[in-house]
Amino acid sequence: MAHVCKVFSRRLSTSTAVRSAIKHVTVIGGGLMGSGIAQVAAATGHDVIMVDQTDDILAKSKAAIQKSLGRVAKKKYADDGEAQASFVGEVMSRISTNTDAVAACGKTDLVVEAIVENLDVKRRLFTALDAAAEEHTIFASNTSSLPIKDIASATKRQDRFGGLHFFNPVPMMKLVEVVKIPETSNETFERLVNLGKAMEKTTVECKDTPGFIVNRLLVPYMMEAVRMLERGDASARDIDTAMKLGAGYPMGPFELADYVGLDTTKFIMDGWSQKYPDIEIFRKSDLLNKLVAEGKFGRKTGEGFYKYDKK
Ligand SMILES: NC(=O)c1ccc[n+]([C@@H]2O[C@H](COP(=O)([O-])OP(=O)(O)OC[C@H]3O[C@@H](n4cnc5c(N)ncnc54)[C@H](O)[C@@H]3O)[C@@H](O)[C@H]2O)c1
Repeated sequence: MAHVCKVFSRRLSTSTAVRSAIKHVTVIGGGLMGSGIAQVAAATGHDVIMVDQTDDILAKSKAAIQKSLGRVAKKKYADDGEAQASFVGEVMSRISTNTDAVAACGKTDLVVEAIVENLDVKRRLFTALDAAAEEHTIFASNTSSLPIKDIASATKRQDRFGGLHFFNPVPMMKLVEVVKIPETSNETFERLVNLGKAMEKTTVECKDTPGFIVNRLLVPYMMEAVRMLERGDASARDIDTAMKLGAGYPMGPFELADYVGLDTTKFIMDGWSQKYPDIEIFRKSDLLNKLVAEGKFGRKTGEGFYKYDKK
């Protein structure tokens, strides 16, 4: 009996392991996040298809990945040019591209979506993919601010749907938040966590709550700093200095907001304040709205709360 149980449990765990191992990943969106996710997935041995709207965008994404891999290779194989070239070549050979998302998800284990932060566009995409993907295929969104449930409900596979929230720049940032909706099955969740680990990230588990863990704490913190400035409690420079020297943060909240992008921060706040009008910390800020209306998005436009030299 003990032997039978052992064999049975070995068979069970082998079959679970086979199902759990995500080998093929389709990344939809080859922008900042999608290209980073594709790069790290390929560098950790996964076969990847990266999808975007045009071949031109995909060519640029591949060039960006190749450049980034070159930097990784230099660190990994300091004085060995041949080893560097072979590492980059090998990883790049695992990434193919396609402009047809439906065709690219036919035989994949996981679809990770990293397209524009727009609920209707994401829902439309997933409805189309749901009809084409195999039964076992898991869907995940990298959304920063939209509820995973609102995206997943566009499909008939909510048990095989979750959030995989990576951080920018993906090759450098060690964290991935793995997000569970009530319908996400334990097996799906486990496979997503295992993928995060296989991609050499530290995973944290979170429910489908606005901003998950990091943005839920970080965005209201930045906004509270903006409100201090609006009230004239302290200057931006002094608030930044205070948080760096008094709290030990590597950047002050205004430096951080300029780095993240004021347009991105406003976009998140607009969504939250509309969806949760009674939550005080999601209240909009006139100063933030004014800066964005003036095209001052932070580092990327040369001015936000601070001015930057454009290189
Ligand atoms: N930028 C960040 O710091 C960050 C961090 C975590 C999560 N996110 C989330 O990741 C997602 C992508 O953000 P990003 O910063 O990479 O944006 P991005 O603008 O750099 O890239 C988005 C890409 O998606 C492509 N795209 C748009 N619609 C498409 C479609 N229907 N099919 C295929 N491709 C399509 C665009 O051409 C573009 O290349 C968003 O949901 C965002 O909230 C962003």
